[in-house]
Amino acid sequence: MLWLILKCLLGYALISFDVIINNHLAAADATVEQDGEKPHIIFILADDLGFDDISFHGSQEFLTPNIDALGYHGKILEHLYAPAICTPSRGALMTGRYPIHTGTQHFVISNEEPWGLPTNITMLPEIFQKAGYSTNLVGKWHLGFAKREFTPTHRGFDYHYGYWGGFVDYYQRRSLMPVPGYSMGYDFRRNMELECAERGTYATELFTREAERIILANNNTKPLLLVLSHLAVHAGNSDDPLQAPEEEIAKFQYIKDPNRRTYAAMVSRLDQSVGRIIHTLEKANMLKNSIVIFHSDNGGPSVGLFANSASNFPLRGQKNTPWEGGVRVAGAIWSPLMRERASLFHPTMYIGDWLPTLAAAASIPLNRSALRLDGINLWPALSDASSNHSLPKKNREIVHFLDDIWNVVAFQQGDWKYVKGTTSAGRLDNLLTYRELVDTDPRSLDYFAAVENSTTSQVLRKYDESQLQREHVEQLRNEATIRCGTGVQRSCNALIEECLYNVAVDPCERNNLAASRDYSDVLARMRRRVRQHRRTAWPPGNQKGYFEYSPSHHRCAWTNFLEESASEESFDCGLYGMPCELDS
Ligand SMILES: *[C@@H]1O[C@H](CO)[C@@H](O)[C@H](O)[C@H]1NC(C)=O
Ligand SMILES: *[C@@H]1O[C@H](CO)[C@@H](O)[C@H](O)[C@H]1NC(C)=O
Ligand SMILES: *[C@@H]1O[C@H](CO)[C@@H](O)[C@H](O)[C@H]1NC(C)=O
Ligand SMILES: *[C@@H]1O[C@H](CO)[C@@H](O)[C@H](O)[C@H]1NC(C)=O
Ligand SMILES: *[C@@H]1O[C@H](CO)[C@@H](O)[C@H](O)[C@H]1NC(C)=O
Repeated sequence: MLWLILKCLLGYALISFDVIINNHLAAADATVEQDGEKPHIIFILADDLGFDDISFHGSQEFLTPNIDALGYHGKILEHLYAPAICTPSRGALMTGRYPIHTGTQHFVISNEEPWGLPTNITMLPEIFQKAGYSTNLVGKWHLGFAKREFTPTHRGFDYHYGYWGGFVDYYQRRSLMPVPGYSMGYDFRRNMELECAERGTYATELFTREAERIILANNNTKPLLLVLSHLAVHAGNSDDPLQAPEEEIAKFQYIKDPNRRTYAAMVSRLDQSVGRIIHTLEKANMLKNSIVIFHSDNGGPSVGLFANSASNFPLRGQKNTPWEGGVRVAGAIWSPLMRERASLFHPTMYIGDWLPTLAAAASIPLNRSALRLDGINLWPALSDASSNHSLPKKNREIVHFLDDIWNVVAFQQGDWKYVKGTTSAGRLDNLLTYRELVDTDPRSLDYFAAVENSTTSQVLRKYDESQLQREHVEQLRNEATIRCGTGVQRSCNALIEECLYNVAVDPCERNNLAASRDYSDVLARMRRRVRQHRRTAWPPGNQKGYFEYSPSHHRCAWTNFLEESASEESFDCGLYGMPCELDS
């Protein structure tokens, strides 16, 4: 009662105060007060998508008109960063914390490993659930499942439809880890139950349909949090890594490289999915109060483990490297709640910023010190760029990579980026792709028409004050295209020396300034900050797998294997025989 009175007195001013949200009273109260006004949040997460594979960054090889339109009607997130691989990236999204503060800083949770993101950390869906949201995850999780308590519906999601592990086959929904000695395992669920229905349907289609169903069932009755976490465009199992429907691949016959052709089809289905989600939100009359985000989880793996032929051009490196090609990702946001749209968002943004940013957009008070957030609230800057309070700190920091097992550090402060050590013995440190100039999408002859013609643009234009102009779109695309710049180049071998770059003028990390006396104070500051951050790091949570965790001992499925008694009995999803089989 006292709480209620206090809250009435302070009203919305409370939002700017630190208020504990892990408090049932506060949560219940928030529901009563703000139901119906809270924005719907639709977070579309792509897996292993290359930076240059969204055509608003300038590529003509294959277009992504729906995703591009989301950016042109909303904002293209120009300096968007995330950890370089899945589990750390998703952990940062769900907790607002650096991987060093969730124990996920060293590699992913491979399916056979008995650990998960620590359960004493509050997750984003928990916060929104307590604030009265319907919380839904469609698709990939990858934050642990060895015990029930690690899984999505025990971490704040009311509902989950999808898979718990790192990836599955696009049709058969089973996965074989790239670790010898474990069998193939089926990994697909509705909440805690194994789900067999519609096996054989392409995953992007399945997840899009499920998201549409959730949106239509919601029908604007309750604030919706929908995380649509696609399998696309992650590779499937190593025997058949790139998968797309034949009729989609046929649209890209002009692309000569067969892998790249299939990849283009995978991206194209992802792009169409965005259009369908926008269209469905409009149909359910929800768009007028929605925030829609498209985001890649990390850089694309052009080569190596789970390579999907993605391109991060012109950035160096790729997924699981400390370079910009690993950590700088493609993303866009659209919401009528943002005053200024049809623009680029220039401030540096980190995937861990979404928790405080979206909580602010939903007027959910957070206790920053209790949550120990590393992310910052960028909602004022996103929603009202003209507000004086909206400008984020100029010298903001991001701990991109701090792994003391592989001895890799990548740390950014303002325009400065410090790299020491690297992955894969430096083999993935260079520019790994080029921009295809010969195989061009026929639609790129009239790029603007293709964007305008997208479902996304046709729906979103209703919310624009003035029509999207050809010149403006071309200007935004031009500004969103990265140019490496010329000038002095001094290379750096991160295996044996420290590297320092000014990424504002040298986004391609070609001019190492570490040896220059002019920057010795910057270098010293970066070293000191890394030492300070390292002192706060949790021990990495990684654990060794055991063969008794193999799906062959657990009904041929990836299960909560620490809690399930081992059993040789298999289950049969019908379509392709026993999922344990190690067939081709
Ligand atoms: C949370 O759990 C992790 C891992 O189990 C542990 O290292 C950490 O100390 C715990 N933190 C708190 C505040 O309990
Ligand atoms: C959705 O809500 C509207 C009113 O807002 C109502 O007219 C319509 O029948 C609802 N649709 C469904 C499928 O429940
Ligand atoms: C926020 O959390 C801290 C640490 O858990 C606690 O000491 C403090 O009282 C909380 N603040 C509010 C306003 O609830
Ligand atoms: C707010 O910003 C405007 C222009 O950006 C400036 O003219 C004004 O003085 C600022 N107000 C305050 C209180 O800083
Ligand atoms: C516009 O979309 C329609 C239907 O999706 C398609 O047939 C047509 O070729 C498109 N036009 C352009 C210019 O992209």
